[in-house]
Amino acid sequence: MTDILKDKFIGLGVTGSIACYKAIDLASKLTQSGASVDVILTRGAREFITALAFSSITHRPVSEDMFDPKSELSIDHVAVAERVDLIVVAPATAHTIAKLAHGLADDALTATILATGAPVLVAPAMDAHMYGNLATQENVRTLQRRGVTIVGPATGRLASGLVGKGRMVETAELMGWITLALGKTGDMAGRKVVVSAGGTQEAIDPVRVVTNNSSGKMGYAIAEAARDRGGDAVLVTAPTALPDPIGVRVVKVQSALDMQKAITAEIDDADVVVMAAAVSDWRPVETADQKIKKSASNEWTLEFTKNPDIIAGLPSDKLVKVGFAAETEDLIANAQTKLVSKGLDLIAANDVTATDSGFATDTNRVMLFDREGGIEVVPLMSKYDVGHRILDRVKHMFRQGPNDATSVGEDATGEGD
Ligand code: PMT
Repeated sequence: MTDILKDKFIGLGVTGSIACYKAIDLASKLTQSGASVDVILTRGAREFITALAFSSITHRPVSEDMFDPKSELSIDHVAVAERVDLIVVAPATAHTIAKLAHGLADDALTATILATGAPVLVAPAMDAHMYGNLATQENVRTLQRRGVTIVGPATGRLASGLVGKGRMVETAELMGWITLALGKTGDMAGRKVVVSAGGTQEAIDPVRVVTNNSSGKMGYAIAEAARDRGGDAVLVTAPTALPDPIGVRVVKVQSALDMQKAITAEIDDADVVVMAAAVSDWRPVETADQKIKKSASNEWTLEFTKNPDIIAGLPSDKLVKVGFAAETEDLIANAQTKLVSKGLDLIAANDVTATDSGFATDTNRVMLFDREGGIEVVPLMSKYDVGHRILDRVKHMFRQGPNDATSVGEDATGEGD
């Protein structure tokens, strides 16, 4: 799924909750993404699930009892603590959270967390009353103050049969938090990356719109890729059915004019804008206040007026401008024309007639054209990976240093020679 997990060591602490079954899925997704996963089970977890379940997936030993002579931890009790890039405790019971808050180290998991310098994520899972208890709440706040990221819990049906706040979050959400934490020092750190997504909706009346087939997947994937490289990712999106990505600021808009306003408000301190949205070139001249009734006539004519070209109107002195070209014919010629006419640094051309790329697919195949005449053919791959290929190019195009207004090549000290 993501390169960011490739060759990383992740510690996965599993504690005694029925949500242990979700930890199997998490271990599987992390392993599939190229991470080496060191699972540590507490005594409570071992009542719910076996070490074999995890080692079958991770192909690595699982730590249980640190005094077991066969355990790596009995020889070097901080081995996992020192090796890992990140530790996730999922599910985390009230009991383990309390032990962590008080700095206890009476088992392999708590000793490892006390000894590690790696970031720690904790995903609580417990009965709603236990979570709401002041003791747990104070323990959670203590951990947050120390820099631990608490993920969830979600509200929903609990093992007790009650409905409340205490469900462990789902794997997809945890994966978002994990890549966010690992990517903090990536090559987009200190960069504000504004991405647009989805198909704008131009209202005809309160119940009808003119729109297009964009699902938003391409733009969302670019925002996630920017986040996973440490970027401050802002997603300006037309309506989609997609969940808000973790760690990305989402601004929801409807029409092209709304999108223009939202993007204009974000770009002053932005380093790059990537327009993956399918923006309607036209909008109805008038939007009726009330639903337009069926008339006796068999024809109905709607009059349209042109929308502004959002990306063409953005300044390019400090901002790197990346566009997409959605084409059904003459892909190369049309993309090159748009690159120049819209004043872009880079354009990703995609053939939207293909069944495996373009609108609503999870994959895309693009050609990247830059203003120096460079052409890069990006073969079929996930939209997330296409996002990374675009950012691989963007990182060489920034006009200014990260998080400041100092131009590249300018003396950053301001002292001169
Ligand atoms: O959302 P998905 O289902 O994942 O589909 C992805 C996608 C096919 C929508 C995406 O990959 C894509 O091609 N997006 C651009 C669609 C588009 O509007 O292309 P265009 O060739 O009409 O426009 C060229 C560029 O100008 C685009 O970056 C567009 O966002 C921008 N534009 C267009 C019109 C307008 N009024 N203002 C703009 O800024």
